[in-house]
Amino acid sequence: MSGSAVDEEKRAAGYAAVDRFVHRGMRCIGLGTGSTAFWAIDRLGARVAEGWELVAVATSVETERLCEERGIRTVGLLEGPPIEVAIDGADEVAPDFALTKGGGGALFREKAVALAAKKFVVVVGENKLVRRLGKFPLPVEVVPFSARYVERELRLMCPSVELRMRAGAPFVTDNGNYILDCAFGEIPAPGELDHGLRAIHGVVATGLFVNLAAHVLVGSPSGVSELERASSKTNLPL
Ligand code: 5RP
Repeated sequence: MSGSAVDEEKRAAGYAAVDRFVHRGMRCIGLGTGSTAFWAIDRLGARVAEGWELVAVATSVETERLCEERGIRTVGLLEGPPIEVAIDGADEVAPDFALTKGGGGALFREKAVALAAKKFVVVVGENKLVRRLGKFPLPVEVVPFSARYVERELRLMCPSVELRMRAGAPFVTDNGNYILDCAFGEIPAPGELDHGLRAIHGVVATGLFVNLAAHVLVGSPSGVSELERASSKTNLPL
């Protein structure tokens, strides 16, 4: 599929999330990071230009910048009204709506906003739907001081652990941390893995988002559809 067709699917999903889940009178919206969430930010900017009065909680410095460009006022987490809806992209979506996130490195704030929001809506193209999480290497955010220790511990459970780099130096998140990308292969129990990883001293957050997404909107060549959630039990056997 051409790049522009993929972009069109992302745009349609991002716009649909705002059109379906954000209503006039809502006072605070959580806004994600990435090329699909971009379109939700864009649509919300159009609503603000029409006179809707709301503020946003941004999940990254980049999203803050996009909001500023579009006249959307941002506030810190729970510094303003409760977040009614948060909209964000994902790197993988399992049938039970478990997600892998953090391809753009914003996982910590993305999870913080998703946890705080009353409703978390995910926007993706069809290519993000998987039977099981794990094809996309799992981002794990770590405190730089402990990066080597966490890497050593992770190597006991994961065959491939890579420090994320950018321009020859470690990639630094908006929180001043590093990211270890962990290619676990199939992840049959994402909640348990998340729990186990967070028990390692130095791990700040993982890109596993379990039991957070309420709705998943999927952009495809035939339009935008809302995914039906399968129970995690039906998700298990391949
Ligand atoms: C950033 C993320 C993004 O939501 C995820 O990487 C999807 O991005 P895109 O919509 O550009 O494919 O988790 O940390």
